Amino acid sequence: MHSSIAFATLAFAAGVLGQQAGTLTTETHPALSMSRCTTAGCATESHSIVLDANWRWLHSTSDSTNCYTGNTWDSTLCPDAATCAENCALDGADYEGTYGITSTGTALTMTLKVGSNVGSRVYLLGPKSENYVLFQLKNREFTFDVDVSNLPCGLNGALYFVEMDRDGGMSEYTNNKAGAKYGTGYCDSQCPQDIKFINGEANIAGWTPSTNNANTGTGSHGSCCNEMDIWEANKISAAVTPHVCNKAGQTMCTDNTTCGAGDDRYNGVCDKDGCDFNSYRMGNTSFYGAGKIVDTSSKFTVVTQFITDDGTDTGTLTEIKRIYVQDGVVIQNSKSDISGVDGNSITDTFCKAQKTAFGDTDSFETRGGLAAMGEAFGRGMVLVMSIWDDYAAEMRWLDAPYPATASTSKAGVVRGTCGADSGVPATVEADSPGASVTYSDIKVGAIGSTYS
Ligand SMILES: *[C@@H]1O[C@H](CO)[C@@H](O)[C@H](O)[C@H]1NC(C)=O
Ligand SMILES: *[C@@H]1O[C@H](CO)[C@@H](O)[C@H](O)[C@H]1NC(C)=O
Repeated sequence: MHSSIAFATLAFAAGVLGQQAGTLTTETHPALSMSRCTTAGCATESHSIVLDANWRWLHSTSDSTNCYTGNTWDSTLCPDAATCAENCALDGADYEGTYGITSTGTALTMTLKVGSNVGSRVYLLGPKSENYVLFQLKNREFTFDVDVSNLPCGLNGALYFVEMDRDGGMSEYTNNKAGAKYGTGYCDSQCPQDIKFINGEANIAGWTPSTNNANTGTGSHGSCCNEMDIWEANKISAAVTPHVCNKAGQTMCTDNTTCGAGDDRYNGVCDKDGCDFNSYRMGNTSFYGAGKIVDTSSKFTVVTQFITDDGTDTGTLTEIKRIYVQDGVVIQNSKSDISGVDGNSITDTFCKAQKTAFGDTDSFETRGGLAAMGEAFGRGMVLVMSIWDDYAAEMRWLDAPYPATASTSKAGVVRGTCGADSGVPATVEADSPGASVTYSDIKVGAIGSTYS
């Protein structure tokens, strides 16, 4: 930190100019490459990853006074939403020291890193750090290696796509001077209301500090967009889940109804439940897990194919297929063992049948189903990787009986071998502060070109 004085001086000068990207810590993005493949072979692209803005130190543009401490805003720097955005700067991140994020250049490891921070979320960032890398996945397959052997019950190592603005909203919102370089503009199908800045404004109206999390709270605004969960998993269970919204691109919701909060869960802009394929939940309890067919005690490859009706990039998305590869063996996804639900892939027919069999509300088809997911791919989506524990539902929707009130003999209730009382963040963080996930060898390309 020999140059900290120089950086501090720069930050103060920048404050005068009304910038809102802090420079007290230098922002150095860890490198992460990926490959683009055709049937002729693969070519490497050098990229980097950027930490989401919500995890960053937020302080005054003129000095190191916190704008946000614990889970409350400073009322002097943040008297209203716009002034707060003008007064506060997002600072650079110490990726390894503060957040436990390291990269070899081809393999990214994210640790839970329990301390003043818990978990993290990063995006794949393109050349010159100006824009996120946009992916068009129709008629493509997306492949990566993952090691979940150090991710116990209650944790989620997630790799997914969301329809964020490519530049993090910087060109659209004049108060956002930080942009993709500082990880701004997050949105997903839960219309998250814990995001501190949405559309260039602080989310301070109605801000309510969490009762069970010292670092977070929720405001009255949320940030909604289409989401394709390629991978939400731990050592016990895994799910692949498209979620769609009835609006294109990132949208700010401003009340409980449009945000789908609380009792309005099914009334919002987005489908919060999604249409999930979790092998255990679909009745095959011997397929995924430690020592099982896909053995989660060591690394394996996850292939996800996005099939269109006419086999072209402009066709309608009709099917999402999953294939695993481990120790050179190609393993097709397990088939559904649920009565009335057929197949081992996600189609609109599968989704409707599964919702009926499990008695779940179908908010996926009512917002456009797979075709809507494909339209989001056509516009381009951003790659997200994260590690997190769940302060809302203890991750039991992924790896345990859920909901708690339902009988475990009812189809669709049990999602993995974790206990009915598992996943409580305080317990998970105390027991597994060093939990981690490694994502590596990311590839995207023509169907059949990324694995063998
Ligand atoms: C909005 O939903 C939350 C639960 O998510 C609830 O606590 C709050 O009272 C609701 N607000 C209104 C105005 O209904
Ligand atoms: C689980 O999936 C594997 C692989 O497809 C299959 O061989 C096995 O029979 C399935 N088990 C059950 C109970 O369906």
